[in-house]
Amino acid sequence: SMSNVKHIKFIEIPKVHDERGSLAVIEKDVLPFEIKRVYYLFDVPSSSYRGGHAHKEQESIIIALSGSFEVIVDDGFSRERIMLNKPTQGLFISTNVWREIDNFSSGAVCLVLASTTYNEAEYIRDYQDFKNHVTG
Ligand code: TYD
Repeated sequence: SMSNVKHIKFIEIPKVHDERGSLAVIEKDVLPFEIKRVYYLFDVPSSSYRGGHAHKEQESIIIALSGSFEVIVDDGFSRERIMLNKPTQGLFISTNVWREIDNFSSGAVCLVLASTTYNEAEYIRDYQDFKNHVTG
């Protein structure tokens, strides 16, 4: 396993490569959930800090479609910093995982596939609230 943090895993996105370039395909059978929403971060200043929350209901897959950035994942017990820099690598993050995103490269695009529609009520935006939520 690549991580001590629970409730995360890498998903390899199949690609078709030839002399004209590469094409990656996300079909429902490579995903652990049904997509309800897609959003993406772009034009992100390199000094930006994003995320800083966990979800009670939403599961996510984060993909560096272009450029690179780092995702800190924290299950309340272990914390890891993961660099994403390949458009064929998805980082699956289940519910109740604190995440932060920083160190965006110039031109970075952060794609998020989400299992839910947007609902601010299912966010945990305070780290101490998160710790209390997962450790009881
Ligand atoms: P925020 O959660 O702060 O983004 P990040 O997790 O990348 O730091 O969201 C930024 C703003 O966008 C905030 O006002 C909520 C809004 N938003 C939506 O309206 N719909 C969405 O699907 C998302 C993800 C955010």
